[in-house]
Amino acid sequence: MRMAQAVLGVTALSLLATLTAYAESMPDAQTVDRGRALYHGLTAWEGPVHVGDTRIPSSAGVCAHCHGARGQGGSETGIKVPEVSWHQLMQSNAHRPAYRSGQHILQTIGGTEGRDDKKLAPPMPTFALTESEGNALLAYLQVVGTEADQAQGIFPDHVTFGVVLPLQGAWRTHGERIHAGLRDRFAAINRAGGIYGRRLDLVVEDAGTRPHDVVQAVDRLVQQHRVFALVGSFLPELPAASLQTIKRYHTPLVATLGIPLRETNDRNLTYLLPSIERQVQQLVRELRGRCDVDNGLHVLHAPVPGLAEAIQVATVNAASRAEVTVQVVLNPADALDALRHTTSRTVIALAPKETVGVIRTQIQKKTSPTCLATLAMFSGLPPSALNDRSDTTVTTSEIVGLPMSSVAVPSELTIEGEGLWTFLADLSARTLAEALSRTGRLVDYEGFDRALNSLQKFEPVNGLPIEFTPQQRHGLAVAHMWKGVLHEQAH
Ligand code: HEC
Repeated sequence: MRMAQAVLGVTALSLLATLTAYAESMPDAQTVDRGRALYHGLTAWEGPVHVGDTRIPSSAGVCAHCHGARGQGGSETGIKVPEVSWHQLMQSNAHRPAYRSGQHILQTIGGTEGRDDKKLAPPMPTFALTESEGNALLAYLQVVGTEADQAQGIFPDHVTFGVVLPLQGAWRTHGERIHAGLRDRFAAINRAGGIYGRRLDLVVEDAGTRPHDVVQAVDRLVQQHRVFALVGSFLPELPAASLQTIKRYHTPLVATLGIPLRETNDRNLTYLLPSIERQVQQLVRELRGRCDVDNGLHVLHAPVPGLAEAIQVATVNAASRAEVTVQVVLNPADALDALRHTTSRTVIALAPKETVGVIRTQIQKKTSPTCLATLAMFSGLPPSALNDRSDTTVTTSEIVGLPMSSVAVPSELTIEGEGLWTFLADLSARTLAEALSRTGRLVDYEGFDRALNSLQKFEPVNGLPIEFTPQQRHGLAVAHMWKGVLHEQAH
């Protein structure tokens, strides 16, 4: 009995000792994060990088490019690159003895040492690491490729996500509807066992009423709640300060909602819906086939900050030969005045329903202009059914750009209805879940990025494909409707 107690006591003691030693040798999360950033080339080296005697750019010395995102090794121009997991480095192999210490590894990377005193050969570069870079790199080499090498917010039994939504002011109902869509989809996924056994958790932050509130909301999610990603946030325009935060932490913003003015090419940022710029671009492409665009294109638009620039960029790319006039119209009277003076045969109107209504009536009465193009996001759908073929007197054509195909949208939701936002939030959540499943059990940002960018012809709802590539940062494709003919085409 006493013996058993003694054994128990000793075991408990040694267990404690092991745990303490483990805790002491465990580098802190910040150092590991810094090492991860260095290893993956997210932070540049302070000192020079050489291959042999030749100095190479810092960007050519990214460990992950040769040794792999998970330190698994590979081959570089036919030369075998060894695995650099801690386990591998601390073991002797058929040819070489183990490294004696972390310091020994750093000296090897610095080009002055090696296993068995044999220095490493090109293409392995030599690095002039600072002390803190060395510490960070060693800390990361201890976890690279292990279960501990997971992105922020990824836990054995759950993943934390965040969302920034307007929960007060004019956009409150949008926020509530989006929240409902995300919450219900998360609940359904969790009931079915989560993803790789991980429950999906959602932290909601209020977008507030001033731009700075958004900045603080994003900071809280990323730095305090330490979320893995943001999903379905209502952020048509992301403040520059928030962009910096998500870049620093590599936080993906997945299937963000709202329609941005311009396309983004930021790798952290994806939108569900195409930007105004892209919608206008596709509208012009679509017009070229049916309307006289080469003899001038007149764009009338509501006074929205930044809209004129977005239109300019879109039309420069899409209507190369046409002369484009971009003009702001404050009200229906302004629009009529603009029409009286235009010589263009084709008009694009990005204005509220009422103004567009006046333009439509005027164009139908006269013989010039003969083509009208609008975006549903500004003016909704025209009053009469678009596929009404009975009206043979129509000599003008009208095209409406939709931010997604209307075929698959459940019939009870109109393109303008608020129910649409719950539907879109559901698509955001499903897109996120799909990318996370494709990433696999081990979740790092590179893997998640690859998975998200490999979504092609992914149809969360039949007939509504979602697609992302490193160039295309919006998931849903622009669609069109022509008056007189129902004509939808995805781009
Ligand atoms: C251009 C490709 C390239 C880059 C970039 C590169 N390495 Fe290497 N690395 C190699 C090759 C090839 C070898 C094998 C050289 C040899 O065996 O002589 C090697 C060997 C090593 C070894 C020795 C492994 C062993 O088993 O002894 C370590 C450690 C190492 N690299 C770490 C790093 C780290 C850390 C970085 C970034 C700071 C890095 N490497 C960047 C190609 C590269």
